[in-house]
Amino acid sequence: MDNFYVTTPIYYVNDKPHIGHAYTTILADVMCRYSRSLGRPTFFLTGTDEHGQKVQKAAAARKMSEQSHCDETVVRFQELWKKLGITNDKFIRTTYDYHKKVVSQVLQELYDRGEIYRDEYEGHYCVGDERFFTEKDLVDGKCPECGREVVKIVESNYFFRMSKYREWLIDYIETHPDFIQPAFRANETLGFLRKGLGDLCISRPKSRLSWGIELPFDHDYVCYVWFDALINYISGVGYLQNEEEFKKWWPASYHLIGKDILTTHSVYWPTMLKAMNLPMPKTIFAHGWWLTGREKMSKSLGNVVDPMQMAEKYGVDAFRYFLLTEMTPGQDASFTEEAFVRRYNSDLANDLGNLASRVIKMIVKNCGAVIPEAGAMDDASLALLADFDRARDEMERALAEMKLDQGIGAVMGAVRSANRYLESTAPWSLAKKGETGKLAMVLHTAAEGLRRAAVLLAPVMPGKMDELASALGLGENYLADHAIDSLSDKSDVLSGKKVSDITGLFPRVMAEKSEPAAPEKNAPAKSAAAPVKTAAENVVELIDIEEFGRVKLVTAKVLEAEKVEGADKLLKLRIELGGETRQLVAGVAQYYTPEEMVGKTIIVVGNLKSAKIRGIESQGMLLAAKTKGKLKLLTVDGDIPSGATVG
Ligand code: ME8
Ligand code: MG
Repeated sequence: MDNFYVTTPIYYVNDKPHIGHAYTTILADVMCRYSRSLGRPTFFLTGTDEHGQKVQKAAAARKMSEQSHCDETVVRFQELWKKLGITNDKFIRTTYDYHKKVVSQVLQELYDRGEIYRDEYEGHYCVGDERFFTEKDLVDGKCPECGREVVKIVESNYFFRMSKYREWLIDYIETHPDFIQPAFRANETLGFLRKGLGDLCISRPKSRLSWGIELPFDHDYVCYVWFDALINYISGVGYLQNEEEFKKWWPASYHLIGKDILTTHSVYWPTMLKAMNLPMPKTIFAHGWWLTGREKMSKSLGNVVDPMQMAEKYGVDAFRYFLLTEMTPGQDASFTEEAFVRRYNSDLANDLGNLASRVIKMIVKNCGAVIPEAGAMDDASLALLADFDRARDEMERALAEMKLDQGIGAVMGAVRSANRYLESTAPWSLAKKGETGKLAMVLHTAAEGLRRAAVLLAPVMPGKMDELASALGLGENYLADHAIDSLSDKSDVLSGKKVSDITGLFPRVMAEKSEPAAPEKNAPAKSAAAPVKTAAENVVELIDIEEFGRVKLVTAKVLEAEKVEGADKLLKLRIELGGETRQLVAGVAQYYTPEEMVGKTIIVVGNLKSAKIRGIESQGMLLAAKTKGKLKLLTVDGDIPSGATVG
């Protein structure tokens, strides 16, 4: 098996870490944890990018040295990674001596070999922004950043002969489909290259910017920050310091980046490596953008999601789970607290948390808290374990193809199968009837499902899955290295293990924003021009097909039903909706008993915002026909699976 080396971008030390930084780093962490779990030698590098104009400015504003400013701000990243359970093997800062030395040696060597040359450079300088722009950067002849006048200046600078690698790079990308992923990003890079490629200015005169790595061959200049920063990927694993270490890890398996820094990674970095005669990384993977709702996250819009706050509020593991399942790597994704709470409640509280607490409770109650032997398994039990085997294979495939959301989805699918297995085998009634043999088989099989889920989800939710493994009597370090390997071993590890109760694995949470606005009785009129209700409003308004189409009606199967204490009209239902389970509160208790409801295929509004009814979350609404003193559920005429579209 190849060694596995994963990097994240090194983040600008000045920035306050937000959900985007957290995402890339968690993604890298999960990949590395899986890799270690498969027994693969793994190295995970992250760090901070500390040179350049912005740092110089920020430090000046605080009247302190650049280095002290960085030393203070870097802690925000280091603390966040600690909080989020990030297992990086090294944290690199571009102000570390070893890194500066490597950059300096690379510059000298490329200069000596004529890969770097000095030239006059004509450009436009914005005094306000203290930035240098080329002719084509300008907008209407003015500064593209602030719109102010620019001054034309001629400056001497150093250039890297990037242009001479253009043909080579086009060919390399075309012949190595894994090199830039997803494929449409490779096409984007090719499009960029086909328009032509100039040489890269890699110096800044100290008179403009002094906070950087000095050029070894000209002390009046510092190195351009990107040229410095990209080199972290090799200086971090021993390049020009420890050849053995370097050979072990380079070329990198994955450079994970956001789509914002594609060109620097897919054009600058490969040409730099080529000039250094070093092999190319195997894959540069650019993921998409996290948005807030539909908007770009930005400081000025005030909609930046603070990862520290989310982890504190909902728990680190739930936050990691959400980020990984909500974004398909490569595409954009949207963050809203409502979506977070909804996924948390349905996947973690309902599906996984519920399965764990039910199974363990029954083992405590019926088997003296010791996991019984399964005995001979029936078809349903074997089928359930086969679901987990498939999930394991799916996870391995998903990892290789960078489709972690799909891998996790497969495991959660198996978890839902386990819940259905419990519904259909009904161990609670086996216990009542004294069918101990079958009861032992069911509880053992369900516990085995839980064990496998814990192993497969541990890289995503390390803390919670450790808790689960401990509750199954597997000991503290069970999920450490090599755990996925252990799944191909079919020997019985659970029989005789002592379980301990685990009620609060994923306690339900309530959405803060999803409460339907209650009509305010004494609310003042919104504006003087508020329309007055007319008789015409009682007439049924006609809608067009698009309006109707916005309502997603689907079939759902009622799995469980119970009365809501203190509310004689309400039933709390657990329904299945095409592989997903949800909770629904419905005002049907005066017309249907809980027993009558279970097993029915009903019609629900599938895309209704969740709401709290008597403090209980309801994720949707069922349809029923109603007239005075009578209510009849809408059902379907014959057999159809849950999740089918109605309309
Ligand atoms: O660019 N959605 O650092 P940076 C998803 N120092 N990911 C996001 C994101 C969002 N809304 N916002 C940021 C730099 N990211 C350079 C890198 S590497 C040699 C030098 C993530 O602090 C994403 O990974 O601006 C993006 O590429 C990175 O943060 C940019 O971090
Ligand atoms: Mg940025």
